[in-house]
Amino acid sequence: MKKSVILTGASDGIGRAMALELARRGYSLGLISRRLELLEQIRGECLKIGATVVEIESVDVTDETRFEAALDSLDRSLGGAEIFVANAGVTGRSCFDENAWPSAKQTLLVNVMAAIHGLEAMKIKMLARGRGTLVGVSSVAGSRGMPTGGAYSSSKAALTTHLETMRVDLKSMGISVVTIAPGFIDTPLTKKNKGKMPFLMQPETAARIFVTAIEKKKAWEIAPRPYLYLYPILQMLPRTLFDFILSRTYRTIRG
Ligand SMILES: NC(=O)c1ccc[n+]([C@@H]2O[C@H](COP(=O)([O-])OP(=O)(O)OC[C@H]3O[C@@H](n4cnc5c(N)ncnc54)[C@H](OP(=O)(O)O)[C@@H]3O)[C@@H](O)[C@H]2O)c1
Repeated sequence: MKKSVILTGASDGIGRAMALELARRGYSLGLISRRLELLEQIRGECLKIGATVVEIESVDVTDETRFEAALDSLDRSLGGAEIFVANAGVTGRSCFDENAWPSAKQTLLVNVMAAIHGLEAMKIKMLARGRGTLVGVSSVAGSRGMPTGGAYSSSKAALTTHLETMRVDLKSMGISVVTIAPGFIDTPLTKKNKGKMPFLMQPETAARIFVTAIEKKKAWEIAPRPYLYLYPILQMLPRTLFDFILSRTYRTIRG
């Protein structure tokens, strides 16, 4: 079967590592993000290690018209993408004494609005073909409202919830839905953190785990491994305990 994937946020971090891992496994790629020079560099690397087709689109995913046109164009070039990965994301920070709206707005636009826009646009194309895999890169931070990251946590909770609905709705229609929830991965996004991040994983290792999960059409994948157990524990923690533990640990990590 033809192996092809469209991936957003491909210029850096987890997206870049996933693009390289997919290339190694022989996928044709459609890569989206804003920084063209990085996309061109990654296209060159992907072609060297196994990809036969690598198309790139330098687009801001919050620009609805251009994003949809990029998805149309990449999908056509790949002859109908088998997989779509909504990976582009930003982490808004907030302090208790500042107006968090500007960064919250961007966080929600990229992590929720654009991610759902991409998933819905690709869903329609896949439904017409009667097959496909939709993937959303959410976060362990979506399990609860993490200190200093209200918009980020709520954006990932929203994405996880939307993916859950899609998974059930599309099950009988030939479309698989995969939710990926990373813990701490060593990328430019986490470089801003000041404290020691528990179980920090390299993006190349995470990409291998995530791409394997996508190929297996797993409903959920969480890495690093300890977060598989921490995620439900975080969700079940009583409010007073959550406030006590997280206000110390998470705030120290984020700085
Ligand atoms: N790293 C972690 O520990 C971690 C943990 C949990 C979840 N995640 C999630 O994993 C995903 C990838 O994160 P990362 O750590 O790899 O972050 P990253 O290294 O900062 O990379 C983010 C990617 O998203 C793209 N992007 C951001 N805003 C965009 C926009 N408006 N339009 C198009 N592309 C945009 C960036 O490309 P351009 O700047 O070139 O546009 C870049 O390729 C995100 O959804 C993040 O929330 C990461």
